Amino acid sequence: MTVLVTGCGGFIGHGVAGALHAAGRDVLGYDLADPPEGRPGWPIVHGDLADAHLLHATLRQHAVRRVLHLGAASGPMVMRDNPAGLFALNIGGTLNLLEASRQAGVERFVFLSSNAAYGPDAGEPISEQTPLLASEPYGASKVAGEALLRAYHWRFGLDTVALRVGVGYGPRRRTDSEPRELLHNALVGRPTIYPWGIGYRRLWTYLDDIVSAILAALDAPAAAIRQPLRAYNIAGPEFAPLDALAAIVRDLVPGADIRLGDGWNPADVRRGPVVLEAARGDLGWVPKVGVREGLQRYCAWLRADLGA
Ligand SMILES: NC(=O)c1ccc[n+]([C@@H]2O[C@H](COP(=O)([O-])OP(=O)(O)OC[C@H]3O[C@@H](n4cnc5c(N)ncnc54)[C@H](O)[C@@H]3O)[C@@H](O)[C@H]2O)c1
Repeated sequence: MTVLVTGCGGFIGHGVAGALHAAGRDVLGYDLADPPEGRPGWPIVHGDLADAHLLHATLRQHAVRRVLHLGAASGPMVMRDNPAGLFALNIGGTLNLLEASRQAGVERFVFLSSNAAYGPDAGEPISEQTPLLASEPYGASKVAGEALLRAYHWRFGLDTVALRVGVGYGPRRRTDSEPRELLHNALVGRPTIYPWGIGYRRLWTYLDDIVSAILAALDAPAAAIRQPLRAYNIAGPEFAPLDALAAIVRDLVPGADIRLGDGWNPADVRRGPVVLEAARGDLGWVPKVGVREGLQRYCAWLRADLGA
């Protein structure tokens, strides 16, 4: 049973495709190109999510039965000045893949939504019933993606699941990220200076916890998926402030020069902690990697990567 992973060259897609491949599953990647470090052990179709014909052909030729849709502009900071392009990729690409999946008889479609779908006015704590009031084009594209999933589920019976993921960190992340900047700068002897950061809390989520959530959503029995939302909050076990991460980085890399000011990152919206009970109950998933362990593992990976 072939599992298609879009965005398989990216931070999360590479982790998921690698985990499936290591488990002996039949995995097929779909991305614009090979990952930067070269062709991995699993096959990849090079293609654009805008190419509906190639998506149809790929799903049919490879008898794809399960889809993990991760290919996207992957955060509010990506394509920030090109909202039309972002919507075309994130909404248009999701629509093309849903339609190809419907026609190919796909049995499970997992979509990577984001905590950004809630926006700044969610209150706290945030459960899956909290209204989706995204403020950024990126978050709006995730709200729209979830609406498309719902329409394909209710009208056509496609078995869909959306995962509203927190802030991912870990090996191979390339988009802007405070954990990488803190660790990378410390390892190369550069200072990190933010005029904000003390008390700035985010849903830090280590890569392995995101991968295990996606695999749980991939394999959960159809009857387990909660109606009507078919969406789950996914986040790490700690809602820690950036100053706590900075203290851990100073422990991991003695001499690290990190200077933080007070308060929230002005480029980010304020959001509270999320409730993870639905994912635990339905998918049997709980986050396992706290920020100290996650930063330790990430630091070891970055050290090796920098030495290579
Ligand atoms: N990283 C996070 O913190 C985070 C948090 C919540 C949700 N998500 C979601 O998870 C998914 C994966 O995120 P990521 O961090 O791995 O992203 P990433 O930027 O590392 O990877 C995205 C991948 O999508 C591919 N892609 C982009 N445009 C494409 C196109 N037109 N056609 C085909 N492929 C294309 C890219 O080549 C890349 O390999 C995204 O949907 C993102 O919105 C990520």
